[in-house]
Amino acid sequence: MLKTHLLQAVQAAAETIRSYDDVRFTISNKEGINNLVTEVDHASEKAIIEVIRREYPNHYILSEEVGAIVQDSEYKWIIDPIDGTVNFAHRIPLCCISIGIEHQGQMILGAVYNPFMNELFVAERGEGATLNDKPIRVSDKQDVASACLVTGFPYTYLDQPNGPLDVFDRLIRAGVPVRRLGSAAIDLCWVAAGRFDGFYEHKLQAWDSAAGFLIVEEAGGRVTNLQGENYSPYQPGIVATNGIIHDELVRWIHDDVPQ
Ligand code: IPD
Ligand code: CA
Ligand code: CA
Repeated sequence: MLKTHLLQAVQAAAETIRSYDDVRFTISNKEGINNLVTEVDHASEKAIIEVIRREYPNHYILSEEVGAIVQDSEYKWIIDPIDGTVNFAHRIPLCCISIGIEHQGQMILGAVYNPFMNELFVAERGEGATLNDKPIRVSDKQDVASACLVTGFPYTYLDQPNGPLDVFDRLIRAGVPVRRLGSAAIDLCWVAAGRFDGFYEHKLQAWDSAAGFLIVEEAGGRVTNLQGENYSPYQPGIVATNGIIHDELVRWIHDDVPQ
C-alpha cells in the first residue's frame, strides 16, 4: 500500500513537471550562486504532498522547498521535488523526482524517477532494486583505476583539504574518468544500475540521497560517509560504490593512495 502511494506521488509529480514541457516557468535564486528554484519545483512538491496528505495525514514530511512538516509519526517522507534543478531550468533532461520513506528512523522505501528518460528506480528494504520493474545490480569493476566515477559539487564551494576540487583533481590527473551529471539522486541510481562504479560527494542534504542510497544498497552496493563509516542522510558526505572498490575510493578521497 505504502509503495503504491509512493508511486502515485511520483507519478503526480511527473505529470506536473511534464505539463511545463512547452511552457515558460519562473526561475529564482536561493542562497548561493546559481542555486536555482523554479515554479515547477514548488508545483511538483505540492502534487507530492497532496497525495501524502490525502492518504497519510499524520505522516511526517521533510521536503526541500517547504522544509519539515513535523508530525508525531513513525513514518517520514523525505522529498526532493526536482533533483537536478539547474539541469531542469536549462531544459537538460537529467533531473528527477526523489522520495524516500523512513520507518522508525530506517529507510524502507525509495523511488527516483526521471520523467524525461522515463526511468523509474525503486527499492524496498530487503526486496532488491529495480529499473522500470527489472532487477538491477551494481557493477563488478575491481579497482578505481579502471572505474568510471561520478560526483557533484556544492553551490557554495567548500575550499578545504581533500575537498571537492582536490579529490576531482587527484582522480582526473590519474586518468580516472569522473563525470558530473548534476543530480545526486540520478548519480546514485546509475551506480545501482552498474553504469557507474562509484559516486562520492561532499555536501548533500537528506532529500538528495534518501531514496538513492537505499536503491544502491538494495542493488548490492555499499554506501558510507566520506570516512567509510555507516551512512546517514542527515550528514553531508557520501561514498556509494559497487562495494568492491569502496575502501580504495575512500582512500583516494583522503589522499591515502600509494603512487
Ligand atoms: C543538487 C543536485 C546536485 C548536487 C547538489 C544538490 P538540487 O540538488 O543533487 O547533483 O551536486 O549538491 O544540491 O538543488 O538540484 O535539488
Ligand atoms: Ca537535490
Ligand atoms: Ca531540488
